[in-house]
Amino acid sequence: MSSDLGSPRTTTERLLVRQARWVAHDVVELRLTRATGGALPAWEPGAHVELTLPSGLRRAYSLCGDVADSEAWTVAVHRVPEGRGGSQEIHESALVGRELEVRGPVNRFPLVPAEGYLLLAGGIGVTPLLPMARELTARGLPWRLVLGARDRSRLVYAEELVALGGEQVLLVPQDEAGLPDLAAELAASPPAYAVYACGPRPMLDAVTALCRTAESARALHVERFTAAHDTVSDQLGTSDGEFEVVLSRSGLRLTVPADRSVLDVVREKLPDIPYSCEEGYCGSCETAVLAGLPDHRDTVIEPPERPTATTMMICVSRCDSPVLELDL
Ligand code: FES
Repeated sequence: MSSDLGSPRTTTERLLVRQARWVAHDVVELRLTRATGGALPAWEPGAHVELTLPSGLRRAYSLCGDVADSEAWTVAVHRVPEGRGGSQEIHESALVGRELEVRGPVNRFPLVPAEGYLLLAGGIGVTPLLPMARELTARGLPWRLVLGARDRSRLVYAEELVALGGEQVLLVPQDEAGLPDLAAELAASPPAYAVYACGPRPMLDAVTALCRTAESARALHVERFTAAHDTVSDQLGTSDGEFEVVLSRSGLRLTVPADRSVLDVVREKLPDIPYSCEEGYCGSCETAVLAGLPDHRDTVIEPPERPTATTMMICVSRCDSPVLELDL
């Protein structure tokens, strides 16, 4: 796992929303700087930051600006009317000129060394891949990026990508060209290329399945913007029983009922505990486990890593033993 929130490189500070601009249909880009200017902590492609919105909602977004632009962090936010309110608030609030608390950067989706890279994006999923493409261009490494969206107006950062990569970039508006041919892209990409994918769940599930086939077993790096299950309540089904959680540093013993998350229960006692997505994909709530058997239900810790994982995402994961002891 890469750097955690709370690591020495991670900061929390109030940043000014210096500028907002539309970068695609229903996608607004925010440029965040210090009110007095000056360099922000350095970051690497794949990193995200967590914004605390005026309502108090916390949401994580990939940094999609240029790593060389040391004075600004840039995020792009897709309006999701059926979402949980964060994107709606960003789109409907006059944020330019306001300060927001910003926490980060955290990178759980870093570039690994490879001979070349195949970058597969769906819609707003291009945001972590755009800085990767810039970085790979700067390093002189080969890459190809495929970006799919419902129509041309939804191809986020299409102009920037084409200016950067020319024919290395394939734009696939679904209403004109159908879905990207992921199987063909993987087949045409040299086996030594690393594959990075970010986008909606059906696309990521398809890429994952293709990369697992015997013919094209590939090193795949995926970032999910949504939970593995539809909602948190889906994951906290009625078959889940209650269990005890011991917070070793705080000296507390709490009961987690079947219909509540560990995070919910812990937050009542430790209100400053970090969290963001509450759906098990951002990693903000990752907590060290000292004893007990975690039932991992997040998408941060990959299934092969789960048996030896020493941490858990307490927003969705539960416990297979009567007591869980956490380093809190
Ligand atoms: S809050 Fe995002 S993984 Fe738990």
